[in-house]
Amino acid sequence: MPAEKIAEVLPESRDMTAVYPGERETGRVLVTGGAGYIGSVMTKLLLDAGYEVTVIDNLVNGHRSAVVPPAKLVLGDIGDEHLLDDILSKERFECVLHFAGLIVVPESVTRPDIYFENNVARGVKLLNAVCRNRVPKFVFSSTAAVYGTPRKVPITEEDPLFPESPYGDTKRLFEELLKAYSRAFGLRYCILRYFNVAGAYAGLGEDHCPETHLIPGILRSVLHQEEKFQIYGDDYPTKDGTCVRDYIHVYDLCFAHLLAMRALNNENLIYNLGSETGYTVKEVFATAEKVVGEKIPFEIARRRPGDVPVLIASSEKIKRELGWRPQKSLEDMVRDAWEWHQTHPHGYPD
Ligand code: UFG
Repeated sequence: MPAEKIAEVLPESRDMTAVYPGERETGRVLVTGGAGYIGSVMTKLLLDAGYEVTVIDNLVNGHRSAVVPPAKLVLGDIGDEHLLDDILSKERFECVLHFAGLIVVPESVTRPDIYFENNVARGVKLLNAVCRNRVPKFVFSSTAAVYGTPRKVPITEEDPLFPESPYGDTKRLFEELLKAYSRAFGLRYCILRYFNVAGAYAGLGEDHCPETHLIPGILRSVLHQEEKFQIYGDDYPTKDGTCVRDYIHVYDLCFAHLLAMRALNNENLIYNLGSETGYTVKEVFATAEKVVGEKIPFEIARRRPGDVPVLIASSEKIKRELGWRPQKSLEDMVRDAWEWHQTHPHGYPD
């Protein structure tokens, strides 16, 4: 279906069968990290679109029960080349979607070695196996952290990359690897640079340990009432002194992957994924109070190292080229996350 046509059906459609009327997908795809937060929602959308899905996950941060049937879960690591060869040689995979990786910025500052090992060195093993087994397409979860402190907002894909943490460095390095593998093997890749992902979809939500992200952190503080929620700094050069971020619903984000995969044919693609709207931490907090229906206690704490004052995406490129339109608001994200946290107060069972 051409991009214009997808754009026509998008605004009204919420589920995949409505988005691709009569056009079910049939290929087989491998999702690395498919037991994690974003990977599990991606797996669900791929299944709904008609793909056959194999998930590889070492379950260090993922959850077995987050893998939706009939996706097949292979318990293992992307650094295990024999396992990857075994999976990729038995059936014909048309695409690998790579979500597996470590994602906590402050942790990457204290333990850069495990970030380089997991996000880069094991990524090389994955790319070698992908190319050896002639999988033609690769979709990579990158991050706004590759830009570092932006010189201007909204940030476009052409803006310079100056990561300010080992985490951002590892994502940038992997982007470079993709370019090199594309030159060496003809691999087609799509790099998707995520801004702040939130929300839940179809019973799949965010269960990190420890939880460092803003929206689940606020909601968990309401449910568990252990300690006051901390806002990291209110002296930034923004309208209320707290940091501004661009939040995107996990459903909208994963939907963009489906469009990108379909569009990945003759050339490589790079897109930002954000909603192009900035909210301060205090505005997110107020939205959470509205959704939860009560005042939420908080205190102002010191700035968190590595936080930049403002990050807002330009997603104009993917809108123009693929007809993508985010459908969900910040309130939708908080409401969906709240529903998930209430039904999973202690996260996934396994
Ligand atoms: N924040 C608090 N208190 C908390 C948690 C967060 O005040 O308990 C603040 C942070 O200081 C920041 C904002 O809320 O200003 C958002 O913080 P998150 O941890 O939710 O998200 P980040 O913007 O730090 O990082 C996220 C992803 C990264 C990605 C980045 C890109 O975690 O992987 O978005 O924008 F690189």
